[in-house]
Amino acid sequence: MNNIHINYDQLLQEVDLYISACKTMDGILSDITGLLKSKVYHYDWVGFYLLDKDQSILILGPFSGKPTEHTQIQVGKGVCGQVAENNQLKIVQDISQEGNYIACSIDVQSEIVVPILKDGQFVAEIDIDSHSPAPFTLEDEIFLTSICQKLSVLF
Ligand code: SME
Repeated sequence: MNNIHINYDQLLQEVDLYISACKTMDGILSDITGLLKSKVYHYDWVGFYLLDKDQSILILGPFSGKPTEHTQIQVGKGVCGQVAENNQLKIVQDISQEGNYIACSIDVQSEIVVPILKDGQFVAEIDIDSHSPAPFTLEDEIFLTSICQKLSVLF
């Protein structure tokens, strides 16, 4: 029901256009955060974390939503760090049930993090917070995984 008004196919086409535009990687990622936050009502904060391999740290890249103090996250810490460690998409439908969680805002109820892999190696991830309880569906998983696959050409 959440996704009834969302045309995911059209959004994917817009992502393709953004990727093929002659912009910097930051410019493209920034455009995509804006697109997703404005078009998908249960996405309240959309951002990218990029891996600094030497330090095993995730560095906050472009984002849309309220500024966060978590501009660096250790691999393994929080939901973002877990995804960086095991390369698996993770959905937390109720953040109060997640033991390894880094709180950003009291409004957040749920979170999805999807890895971007380059030649099978983790390079970055998309992190989405929602103020809705348990909003994420298989459709979100397929949609965001497709975006992350498309974005791997940028790395
Ligand atoms: N909640 C995340 C931290 C990043 S903020 O959501 C922007 C986590 O547990 O890794």
